Amino acid sequence: MVDIKISAFEHLNKKEKYELAYKSINSLLKDEPDVVANMANTAALLKQVFNFFWVGFYFNKGNELVLGPFQGPIACTRIAFNKGVCGKAASTKKTVVVPNVNQFPNHISCNEKSKSEIVVPFIKENKTIFVLDVDSEFEDHFDQTDQQYLEMTIQLFT
Ligand code: SME
Repeated sequence: MVDIKISAFEHLNKKEKYELAYKSINSLLKDEPDVVANMANTAALLKQVFNFFWVGFYFNKGNELVLGPFQGPIACTRIAFNKGVCGKAASTKKTVVVPNVNQFPNHISCNEKSKSEIVVPFIKENKTIFVLDVDSEFEDHFDQTDQQYLEMTIQLFT
């Protein structure tokens, strides 16, 4: 079992946290082929290190997104491909950053505390396999650094 100490992240700035999180997730995932186990630990690590409101995965199952491993409050179980931020990321195959979810047409509110959101799709052979959804209680919480590192992190699932 890989030994990761959350206390090691405490005094780091955001970029340094992402650097260490990326290395830690890499070491958690590199010898484990089970995708659900890997998603579960990735969600746990990101939630603990960054104290995000919600971190989780949705699988593309028959052109509908179905909830996978997550950390945080109970969430919507199924999301249509053309609905919400998750649906947009899944259907466009591009990361979607939403600074204010209340201004996003079609946003699906699983929890009214969620104020901003980033969703990163994992693409294989030109198909969205799953998405990583990170939600914050604060408006405008996600920037280029989040996008860059979350996109890198999701590539660890290849
Ligand atoms: N807000 C998301 C739904 C998923 S959750 O927030 C956990 C969306 O619009 O895709």
